[in-house]
Amino acid sequence: SAAEKGGYEHFMIKEIMEQPRAIAQTIQPRIRDGQIVFEENGLTDDRLKKANHVHIIGCGSALHAGIVGQRVIETIGRVRCTARVASEFRYENPIVEPDDLCIVISQSGETADTLAAMRQAKEAGAFAIAIVNVVSSTIAREADGVLYTWAGPEISVATTKAYSAQLAALYLIAGRLAYARGKMNEEEQRAFCDQLQALPEMLEKMLECKQTMQYLATRYHNRSSVFFLGRGLDYAAAMEASLKLKEISYIHSEAYAAGELKHGTISLIEDGTLVVALATQPELYEKTVSNIREVTSRGAEVILIAGSDFSGDESACRHVVRLPECPALFSASLSIVPLQLLAYYVAVERSCDVDKPRNLAKSVTVE
Ligand code: G6P
Repeated sequence: SAAEKGGYEHFMIKEIMEQPRAIAQTIQPRIRDGQIVFEENGLTDDRLKKANHVHIIGCGSALHAGIVGQRVIETIGRVRCTARVASEFRYENPIVEPDDLCIVISQSGETADTLAAMRQAKEAGAFAIAIVNVVSSTIAREADGVLYTWAGPEISVATTKAYSAQLAALYLIAGRLAYARGKMNEEEQRAFCDQLQALPEMLEKMLECKQTMQYLATRYHNRSSVFFLGRGLDYAAAMEASLKLKEISYIHSEAYAAGELKHGTISLIEDGTLVVALATQPELYEKTVSNIREVTSRGAEVILIAGSDFSGDESACRHVVRLPECPALFSASLSIVPLQLLAYYVAVERSCDVDKPRNLAKSVTVE
């Protein structure tokens, strides 16, 4: 009913708007006096220190959160970390050793592929920490420890606020892991916590692009194919942005590492192809700009999602949406927001069943 949707037309847009609160509720209880605390789940410093490898598993958007997590954990924790599709994990003969850490991500906590992969990792001796939204779900019960995302119930099949809360949980783990392994001192952890606690407010600012994204949807909803490009964290965010669009609008889309497009798929760029480029990492601005030129010179129209201090040449882009000022490491939490909104408004323009896209289920309990 309309009341359940809090006055919004769909659950998806209600849940997009709830994201600042979802991440605040996930972050707040785990920060005390400038330290990240995990008393609730057995994720001790000792455990974080002795892991030789961090395995991340999930499906769909949960996997995409994991891919962001992999980059963040390797960047600040300096430990090997691999994010893998849960349904592939078992057949890849993964090298899992006792004391490895396995981060299992699932909104529902019931996804069969993810559950099966977690059981296998536990069998091999890994400590399984689950990032789950649904309290007392199967994955939460079977994991060695749980880090709940307090996003609240998510109704829309396409996840938004649970995904954002998963990112917040991964930032928390990465921060404590870096501290436990001596890559971050107490002072640095304090600064990291301050930045993390500022994230809900930055997300609130990011949501101000709502009207702009609605306008862009009216312009571009009739495209038949869309490419999302980015490097590093922006590539990870591009994967989730692309999934959102195709899940609910049924427009074919692909996420590409910006530097990889020229090795094949650039042949698909033609007059009027929409390309959404992400450039939020200052050290990659120049490189991504040259990839943007590669597509515009072949007729593509580019929407750029840029860091607040983006200084590259914008002239090749039709539209530029800027992030509020934020540390580059946290940009993945912000850059996804305009692209969730774009997917939402494009699906609305196309009269799609936004909250219940065809052929998809909120949770999939078969392998
Ligand atoms: C389904 C949904 C996806 C979701 C995936 C993982 O396929 O359609 O939106 O990301 O499952 O769900 P989970 O509950 O494990 O996060």
